[in-house]
Amino acid sequence: MPNHYFSRLLLLFSCTILFASSVMSQGTTPSGISPANKARIDALMKSMTLDEKIGQLSLFTSDWDVTGPSLNGNYKKLIREGKVGAIFNAYTVDYVRNLQKIAVEESRLKIPLLFGYDVIHGHRTIFPIPLGEACSWNLAAIEHAERIAATEATAEGINWTFAPMVDIARDPRWGRVAEGAGEDTWLGCKIAAARVKGFQGNDYTTNNTLIACVKHFAAYGAAMAGRDYNTVDMSLLSLYEWYLPPYKAAVDAGVGSVMTSFNEIGGVPSTGNKWLLTDLLRNEWHFNGFVVTDYTSINEMLNHGIAGTIKDAARLALNAGVDMDMQGSTYLNSLDSLLKEKNITFSRIDDAVRVILEAKMKLGLFDDPFRYCSRERQEKDIMTPEALASARKMVSESCVLLKNEKNTLPIPASAKKIAVIGPLGDSKKDMLGNWSAAGNWEKCVTLLEGLKAKAGTGVEIFYEKGCNVNDDDRTGFDAALKLATKADFVILALGENGWMSGEASSRAHIDLPGVQNDLAEAVVKTGKPVAAVLFNGRPLAITRLSAAAPAILETWFGGTQAGNGISDVLFGDFNPSGKLTMTFPRTEGQIPVFYNAKNTGRPYQSSDPGAKYVSRYLDCPNDPLYPFGFGLSYTTFTYSGISAVVSGNKVTITAQVKNAGNRDGEEVVQLYVQDKVGSITRPVKELKGFQKVMIKKGESKSIMFNITTDDLAFYHPDLKKSWEPGEFVAYIGTSSAETLSAPFYIK
Ligand code: GLC
Repeated sequence: MPNHYFSRLLLLFSCTILFASSVMSQGTTPSGISPANKARIDALMKSMTLDEKIGQLSLFTSDWDVTGPSLNGNYKKLIREGKVGAIFNAYTVDYVRNLQKIAVEESRLKIPLLFGYDVIHGHRTIFPIPLGEACSWNLAAIEHAERIAATEATAEGINWTFAPMVDIARDPRWGRVAEGAGEDTWLGCKIAAARVKGFQGNDYTTNNTLIACVKHFAAYGAAMAGRDYNTVDMSLLSLYEWYLPPYKAAVDAGVGSVMTSFNEIGGVPSTGNKWLLTDLLRNEWHFNGFVVTDYTSINEMLNHGIAGTIKDAARLALNAGVDMDMQGSTYLNSLDSLLKEKNITFSRIDDAVRVILEAKMKLGLFDDPFRYCSRERQEKDIMTPEALASARKMVSESCVLLKNEKNTLPIPASAKKIAVIGPLGDSKKDMLGNWSAAGNWEKCVTLLEGLKAKAGTGVEIFYEKGCNVNDDDRTGFDAALKLATKADFVILALGENGWMSGEASSRAHIDLPGVQNDLAEAVVKTGKPVAAVLFNGRPLAITRLSAAAPAILETWFGGTQAGNGISDVLFGDFNPSGKLTMTFPRTEGQIPVFYNAKNTGRPYQSSDPGAKYVSRYLDCPNDPLYPFGFGLSYTTFTYSGISAVVSGNKVTITAQVKNAGNRDGEEVVQLYVQDKVGSITRPVKELKGFQKVMIKKGESKSIMFNITTDDLAFYHPDLKKSWEPGEFVAYIGTSSAETLSAPFYIK
């Protein structure tokens, strides 16, 4: 073929390819940006200087709130110079509007800012801490709570939240268990997705949705010894099987950003871990949002000893896949020289800038930088009656009835003199718990206030603090005991201060602090009917209280409506249905103790309690004080007639659940499965489903679960997930420890 024909053919062929690829890009790009908006971003990036590009990769705190060690005072000057991509810890319309005005009126390219904040369990209307919400097992209510949080936060200028926190945790000494969903991976995935959907809605362009940020990637909850920021070291198999799935669930739910964790994993801090942030997150999971560090976690790679200088830390982070530096100023101060030294590339910087500009474009900030600065919304969308009612209901749903001997609760109508005794009985500040964002503690309803508001006519309610949360002062005991002896019913209000959980709040001893146990035992000795109400941000080793008090209601930190929601339960207007999503140990010595443990080669058998050569302690039972999935009701549910029927790759597991008591109630019916034999040892049981059902008194319901072999898959050493044929056991029950069982075989 003559040369000129060939070259024409080649030209025609390449034009066709070019045309085809441009037509292809007529769809949405992987990041969900329309071609028109992609073109706008392309044009903007072409006009940006290197400094302006690096500026987009920097996140600074305002001076409105502080959530970490250092504070950068000159952030307004940096905004003016186009050196800030986002601000956090800033809210209210006026405050945000003023900062946005600097960015879009005084900087050269007028690129709008993102405004991030830790909206973890509500913005102004504070909901129960996330660990408490998880105990509701009500995914729709959890999603709705985030919808309310997003509505309120966006009404005050915020368009990015540093939530959901989805770190799986099996160690209650770690204070941040308060922020997560507990110990179970399967449930953690469901709750992660629900939270992302609640925050982001299904349309960023409305001004009441915001970008969520799944954190802390990854496995921050596995800090050794439950000590915050401590080393995380585990097999890749465990990482994949137990810790990574909730982050993946958030990515699959479309989360717009990911926050790296402070900890190292296998010797490399997450913030500099290319395998984690690029190979896994981007290339394997196809995450298309942006990655932000945790607070100065790039700088902290010097402490980790993985970088010798700040510049080296910045290089590690950028090349690992970090797009935005929170509060560290490392990108601002190092990227240009790293570029000159060819230790990073222009294209890597451009990739980081692009995903951040895409986030701003998706939020509509380029079209209207003040779309989240509506005074009218700030007036009408915050702490609405609906929001407060939802919060109150969630308080009640998150309560877990741990003990109720002789039906001590609900408070009997005959009780006309009720004594509230304990340091948490009338404490507004503690009701918010940790990470309470813009929550106003003055608007919190305390237990005492809630009881008084609800008590019927002729019921008198008295209060004595009795002791402090965490010291050895017993001078208040006398007055408390005097009050108890005059009362018909005593409510003990015990637990932790709100700040004793959350970040940098690990506790080595997790029983009730101070002299609260002494106070509780003294009050019980009066012989009055006593119910203990717990306020805490983690499972507590309350073995003494559990032995002393006839009734115990776990209420976590219930937030703005704490006292009202708890009183609804205590007076019986709400029948408690909460179930623990994290195990309560008898003592710290058992930690980590969790339900989906391995059987080991020498399992302890309760049928042979004297056996020596088995996995046990000489001085403590193996079983926890209260197991995963546990929670009582004011009625009783009985289970019968379990069956497991296999058809092909499907298994249908059914059981009858009867409300054998004298009042209607909701029950969280749980499905667990055990894989008896696997090429990798398998847990004694794993949660594979639940149904929260209302069953009227005296009625029965047939509860059916349908699972497939996909639900039985687990990770193998090649880090691929697959199931294996063989013997299984299905369990249906009211907790992980109380179940009926039915074997089944799948070939
Ligand atoms: C904190 C927390 C993180 C939070 C961030 C911003 O150190 O680890 O969860 O989102 O800083 O406040």
